[in-house]
This record gives sequence, structure tokens and C-alpha cells, in this order.
Amino acid sequence: MPHYKIACIPGDGIGKEVVPAGQQALEALAASQDGLSFSFQSFGWGGDWYRAHGEMMPADGLDALRGADAILFGSAGDPQIPDHVTLWGLRLKICQGFDQYANVRPTRILPGIDGPLKRCTPRDLDWVIVRENSEGEYAGVGGRAHQGHPIEVATDVSILTRAGVERIMRFAFRLAQSRPRKQLTVVTKSNAQRHGMVMWDEIALQISREFPDVRWDKELVDACTARMVNRPASLDTLVATNLHADVLSDLAAALAGSLGIAPTGNIDPERRYPSMFEPIHGSAFDIMGKGLANPVGTFWSCVMLLEHLGETAAAQRLMRAVEAVTADPRLHTGDLGGQATTAQVTEAVCRRLREPATAAA
Ligand code: IPM
Ligand code: MG
Repeated sequence: MPHYKIACIPGDGIGKEVVPAGQQALEALAASQDGLSFSFQSFGWGGDWYRAHGEMMPADGLDALRGADAILFGSAGDPQIPDHVTLWGLRLKICQGFDQYANVRPTRILPGIDGPLKRCTPRDLDWVIVRENSEGEYAGVGGRAHQGHPIEVATDVSILTRAGVERIMRFAFRLAQSRPRKQLTVVTKSNAQRHGMVMWDEIALQISREFPDVRWDKELVDACTARMVNRPASLDTLVATNLHADVLSDLAAALAGSLGIAPTGNIDPERRYPSMFEPIHGSAFDIMGKGLANPVGTFWSCVMLLEHLGETAAAQRLMRAVEAVTADPRLHTGDLGGQATTAQVTEAVCRRLREPATAAA
């Protein structure tokens, strides 16, 4: 009977509120489904750990996570610590250490949620953004010289490797192939960036030949923002570099109604390491500790976690419970214009999960 070890890293801010909510939902699922069980191990890494130990996570932290089947992550970010320290010290350390090179960001308008686009029905907006998650603009290559002098110089070099681009293209084409429309948009900027992005385009063409049943096109990243707003139904699966996809996925989340809903998975497709699932909202210090955070982004991330583990039925059951709850405006949190608390939304989802499987399905 499947038993899964889940490592939980709440991190900072509202991460400490939404990760326990996700854990509760997984527990409610297990309680109502024979043969499914989880054990959770929680790690108190992040800003507080940094203040106590001078680092965001222990040097041997990856070893502690290695045996987990999956990782549920909250957020990293602390007003007292520079953002690049919190990012590189925890989240990127795990993503890069475990070579989670595919970052998958689905976007849909869930029932009951109002998006800002006029004339856009939920059917018009159903995207998955595949973000290259191991190199590109986040490679960490660069440096500073002459610090503090007028001739000071700073560089961030975007690194694109043939191996890195081939593997993310193959992943994206395969994902597009698995979706009903079998359609992929390769986001690029090869008009301005005439080396790396030109190789990116060439490799896209090369990999496309392995997937003759996938329709694909190319779109410049700036034009892509306009297309997302003006012709959302013309997009399905997208693949983009680390930074391009970072920007596009915030736009996608906002167009679907709220950043508080959007989930993501940092995936090692080869399954050499555990993959990590997290809501894409940040630590949101303005509302932390008040019980106001929207747990839906974490629940949806748990759906992705379950899909990754092959627990399709449980994933569908959780997604349906989430959709039933978003459909009820009385259960909307502040980011959606409602007044519900994290605990109320979590309890509503768990209640549905505890109903006998047939009624909830
Ligand atoms: C994201 C976030 C992070 C990123 C931040 C928190 C550094 O915006 O996951 O999209 O830029 O990768
Ligand atoms: Mg982002």
C-alpha cells in the first residue's frame, strides 16, 4: 500500500500558514482513501534559521531531503534579509542541487473566480507554462569588480547549454503532446539576444521533429504578453527561459484571478531526486500571521505533487474539492475580494475530502 514521505519546508511569512494547510488536506485525503498514507517531516529553514545560524538551511540539508518522495515548500523571503540571499540560500539551492530543471506552472480560471479579462471565459484560458529551471538568467554566473568606485562593473551572464535546452524542449513537447490540444508555443527573444536565444530556437526546431503530432509556433516574449491578454485561447502549453517564464507566469496568474491560487512544481523528470511543489505567491509579510493567506495555491500544488507520485485519483479528488470551494464566494480569501480565513477555506476543502469518495468524486 503506497506510503509517501513528504518533506515540508514552510519557509517564511505566509508559507508557515499555507504549508500546514496543505498537509491537512493531504491527511484528509489519506483518511478517506484506502491504501494511501503520508508521513510528514517538517524543516524549519528560512529567515529565522538564518538569524540563528547564519545560513538559510544547513550545509548538509539536501541529504536530509534526499529520501523524501516529494517536497512541499511554502515561500522564502524576509524583509530583514536581502532577497538574493534568501533565494539562493534555500529555494535555488534545492532546485539546482536536485536538478529540478523543469518548472511547471499551470494556469486556469477556477470556478467562481473572476479574472480581469473581459470576454474571457474559463474555456479560453487553460495554459501550462514550462519554465527552464536550472540555468539561463538564473545560472548565477557573473560578478562585480571595482565595488564602490565610479568604474564599478556588474554582470549577470545568461548561460544556455545545448544539453539544458534540449532537455527542457523535450519535456515541454512531451507535456504539450499529453494535453488535448497538442500545441506548444516556444517563447523566445532571438531578435535581440543573438546567441543564446538563436541556439534556443534552433534546438526547438530540432526537437520538434521528434513530435510530429504537436503543433508548435514561436513567439517573442514581449509579443507573448500582449497575446496572453488579447488572444488567450490561442495559447496552450508554453516553454520559456528561466526569467522569461518567471515574468510570464505572474501575468498568467493575475489573468486567472489571483496570485494566491497559482501552483508550481519544480520537477526532476528523471526522478533521480525528489521534486518540490509550492504556491507561486511569495511570503506576503503584510498579511502574515493573520490567518488571511489563500491556501488554494498550496492545495493545487498538492494536486501536482500527487500527480507526480502517480496518485491520479487522489489528485482529481483534491482538485474537485478545491474547485467546489472556489465556486462559493463565501469561501474566498481577501486576495479574491472575500473575507474567508485560511482556516475556513482549509476546513471546507477537508470536509469535502472526508465525504465518502463517491459523493466527493
Ligand atoms: C517565482 C518567484 C521567485 C523567482 C522569486 C521569489 C525569487 O518569483 O518562483 O516565480 O523569481 O524565481
Ligand atoms: Mg516569479
